[in-house]
Amino acid sequence: MNLAIDGGTPVRAEHPLPSPLHPNGRTFGKEEEAAVIRVLRSGILSGVWGSEVPALAREFSRLIGASHTVPCSSGTAALHLAVAAVDPAPGDEIIVPPISDMGSVAPIIAQNAVPVFADVDPLTGCIDPDDVQAKITDRTRAIMVVHLFGKVAPVQRLREIADRAGVMLIEDCAQAYLAPVSSGGPYAGTVGHIGCFSLQQYKHISTGDGGLAVTDDPALADSMRLFADKGWPRESGERAYLSFALNYRMTELTAAVAREQLCKLPGVIERRRASAARLAELLAATPGLHLPVDDGDHVYWYFPLLIDGLGAAGLERYGAALTAEGVPAIAGYLARPLYAEPVLREAKAYGGSGFPTRGVAEYPDGLCPVAEDLVSRRLVVVPWNENFGEADVDDIAAAIRKVHSAVAPS
Ligand SMILES: Cc1ncc(COP(=O)(O)O)c(C=O)c1O
Repeated sequence: MNLAIDGGTPVRAEHPLPSPLHPNGRTFGKEEEAAVIRVLRSGILSGVWGSEVPALAREFSRLIGASHTVPCSSGTAALHLAVAAVDPAPGDEIIVPPISDMGSVAPIIAQNAVPVFADVDPLTGCIDPDDVQAKITDRTRAIMVVHLFGKVAPVQRLREIADRAGVMLIEDCAQAYLAPVSSGGPYAGTVGHIGCFSLQQYKHISTGDGGLAVTDDPALADSMRLFADKGWPRESGERAYLSFALNYRMTELTAAVAREQLCKLPGVIERRRASAARLAELLAATPGLHLPVDDGDHVYWYFPLLIDGLGAAGLERYGAALTAEGVPAIAGYLARPLYAEPVLREAKAYGGSGFPTRGVAEYPDGLCPVAEDLVSRRLVVVPWNENFGEADVDDIAAAIRKVHSAVAPS
């Protein structure tokens, strides 16, 4: 079969798959429209004086099983609230995985702390607890774990490691809403000290941008609320600025849409899991293709494929060939591990000072070999969607089989 990338007929030529950049790949409906109008008619668009932001905080806490939720303006903001609540001194270290969005790392640099990268598991891409343990020093203040693509990371083990070391565990759940840590157990985001979620355009539920930080610890919740609002303790009635902080407040419009999206979230997760299970069944026993590890704990933000023996050029071709067949796919997910980005490698943060990392941390090639292998030689991701129907999944499977047999080594 001639691949579409070489001029052949694409598997999916006519109707593009549902996409988060199109109404057919989102769950916005009459409920969200009514919510926006409700807020506009109230005359209050700011969460400082409105009722939607506090209601969202209560509803998300109940849904996820946490005592406190601090709504904010993005997933990166939620992670910044978390890192600020850790309150690192300049030069303190926070351990992070190299496969994530830069939103996991930027808040560490913003708080003048040093990102220390631990390698990842070769099958899931989530941070490897053994390497985390090996990277702990007397300067470590926190561990950040990312539930990559919607797969729950070994968060209970990481919590034990964090507790033993006397440091905090932050869960980056931007890609993992309602992901059960164990069967019937807690959800991702509630095992660590703080869990952070994103409402960005591409996430399971969206308000365009937005974030949620959850915790069971009232002191951490207070410190995150202050950091999202310039350090201003509104409930005291006093105009004081208690600590360094920014404005990361969520608006009423965002909160009202988020509340409606929350109602739809369980259905979104169920549909994503069902269609991913269908794809896994259709692709089972494809030689040289590893499907996502799923112990009932994957909520499929993306559907990751691991392919044996491709090499760098083969990986690029695999991703481009799938996209040409009508199944948008991203080779490697990232262009490079996060530590190889200029912001870290060239310490591009505070003028020419190189602060806080130059001369303190090195970010050379080979730092996290498993992550490098995944990103440059083995991993292809297919963005997943709750609105994929059975025929869509059948097309995705057909495209992957076609590309795999032509591009993967036999
Ligand atoms: C794992 C991860 N962390 C952090 C972020 C940052 O979230 P946001 O884009 O809402 O700032 C994202 C998404 O963009 C993400 O996927």
